[in-house]
Amino acid sequence: MKGVVLAGGLGTRLYPLTHATNKHLLPVFDKPMVFYPIQTLVNAGIRDILVVVGGPHAGDFIRVLQNGKEFGIDHLEYAYQQSGDGGIADALKLAEDFSDNGPLTVILGDNCTDADISKEVKNFNDGALIFLKKVHDPHRFGIAEIDPKDKTKVVSIVEKPKKPKGNLAVTGVYIYDSHVFHHISQMKPSARGQLEITDVNNIYIKEGTLRWATLEGYWSDAGTFASLYKTNVFWANKIAGKRLREEPD
Ligand code: G1P
Repeated sequence: MKGVVLAGGLGTRLYPLTHATNKHLLPVFDKPMVFYPIQTLVNAGIRDILVVVGGPHAGDFIRVLQNGKEFGIDHLEYAYQQSGDGGIADALKLAEDFSDNGPLTVILGDNCTDADISKEVKNFNDGALIFLKKVHDPHRFGIAEIDPKDKTKVVSIVEKPKKPKGNLAVTGVYIYDSHVFHHISQMKPSARGQLEITDVNNIYIKEGTLRWATLEGYWSDAGTFASLYKTNVFWANKIAGKRLREEPD
């Protein structure tokens, strides 16, 4: 299985922090944010990774990630998303050649989780698999509605709902078969002018080939001031909680 980290976009929600560098290179405790999703892929046995970058600071990624050897990556590739805010599915389009018609595990560059997805990666066959997580602020995410009669089925996903049907957020961790690129090619930009990953997932739902799993462990994205702060606090405590509390300032 190959992996894709989507780290484009302009990070406008984090201005002024993102005037000088890309959102995914901002610190989450002792590492740049993008290290976390890369580590999630590597921990799942994925050693062939494409990082999709974009925006005015795309070049910064090379200085930070270099050739990926530090992570134990065999092959690290970069793609450049020309349209700064074209959306997540638009960024994923750039992975078509890299995929070699095989399945891809895709993770958003601001998703910091300690979940182990190696079982799902190993057992994936076809269709799409999304990872869900209960949240307290469902209006911020894509929200999945589960079929009450058959809990294995997702009925639909609504992106950033005003009146959420439940609190199961679609995390930014997905596994897709190679049909994903055909699906994206059929899509139209949303009202906010983006090719939405939620529309991709809804196509798989209509086809009856989307499955879901719970993302076990800690998960947060870090694309807003509150979530960036919260994610920093979690990882500081997890990595060095006791040491930090005892360390002199
Ligand atoms: C994106 C997706 C959304 C998902 C979220 C997870 O939102 O569009 O469906 O729940 O990532 O991090 P964004 O962070 O781009 O607003």
